[in-house]
Amino acid sequence: MTAQAHILQSTIETLTAPGKGILAADESLKTIQKRFAPYSIECTDTARRDYRQMLFTAPDLGKYIAGVILYEETLFQKTEKGESLPKVLEQQGILPGIKVDLGLINLVPFEEKVTEGLDGLEARLLKYKVEGARFAKWRAVFNIGDYKPSWAAMEANALLLARYAAICQSVGIVPIVEPEILMEGSHDLQTSTMITEKILNFVFRQLKIQSVCLEHMILKPSMAIPGETGPSASVAEVAKATLQVLSYTVPTAVPGIYFLSGGQSESLATAHLNEMNKQMPHAPWVLSFSYGRALQHSSLETWAGVEANIPAAQAVLLKRTRLNSEACLGRYKAEEE
Ligand code: 13P
Repeated sequence: MTAQAHILQSTIETLTAPGKGILAADESLKTIQKRFAPYSIECTDTARRDYRQMLFTAPDLGKYIAGVILYEETLFQKTEKGESLPKVLEQQGILPGIKVDLGLINLVPFEEKVTEGLDGLEARLLKYKVEGARFAKWRAVFNIGDYKPSWAAMEANALLLARYAAICQSVGIVPIVEPEILMEGSHDLQTSTMITEKILNFVFRQLKIQSVCLEHMILKPSMAIPGETGPSASVAEVAKATLQVLSYTVPTAVPGIYFLSGGQSESLATAHLNEMNKQMPHAPWVLSFSYGRALQHSSLETWAGVEANIPAAQAVLLKRTRLNSEACLGRYKAEEE
């Protein structure tokens, strides 16, 4: 094994520790402003730092969280005591990761989106590595609708995900490959399952063409789930459909599948993950969580920008991470909510 492959392997082993997941705290400036707005928190760089410092210093967070995805700004921020936020995570035994895509642009002439950020990526990754980043994330976004996703959207986004993943691995950073299908729309579970399968096939085809080492990446998919105004499906049905599509499309060489929550409620995201681990206790991949909203929502609400609320908000975060940790082992009990 080359030195680079050793680093990648050790990152993968830390991230896929049993019963642990990833906290996605990489909201862009626009998104975090939207999250703060309901609590009238002014979105200053200090407020963003204080919020993320509150999350990362939650006592015992490292028991349930193996990695945190940061937004670029956070990677370079320091606590009031002058300690860098990635260092704070490392002290909890948590690996810092970094969102490296630069967001979505229109995929003209289609009414769809494509992710940008490949230009200069290698140089940025090397800079992030110096600050402690051990893994990265790139998010591609798809809508389900009339003629959507188009062949063009699937092919373009899959190629970009694969190029990003190859560049990350070449500098010793584990890529999280995130093809997200949005919940917007009135489609049913079957449609979501079919589209998820199609997209994952495009993604793994490109990963192969670009010679990405599957052992050294993590997949972050959305679950196969009905559209938000579509016919509802039970927890058992969602778990079954998601496992079926993953078993059709994701090679067993991939060590971990870490779901995004995509707007599901906190308890539903946990219940779905738990049910998957119950239905497939010996899955060939680690099935875990890489939630943003479904880990942070109640904690942010409890904090609401008020210093005195920090211990309570941290306790809420710790409970959420513990329940998801139990879901990774198929042992979550809804009564504990
Ligand atoms: P959600 O869990 O809120 O969907 O966020 C995860 C994420 O990283 C989206 O890119």
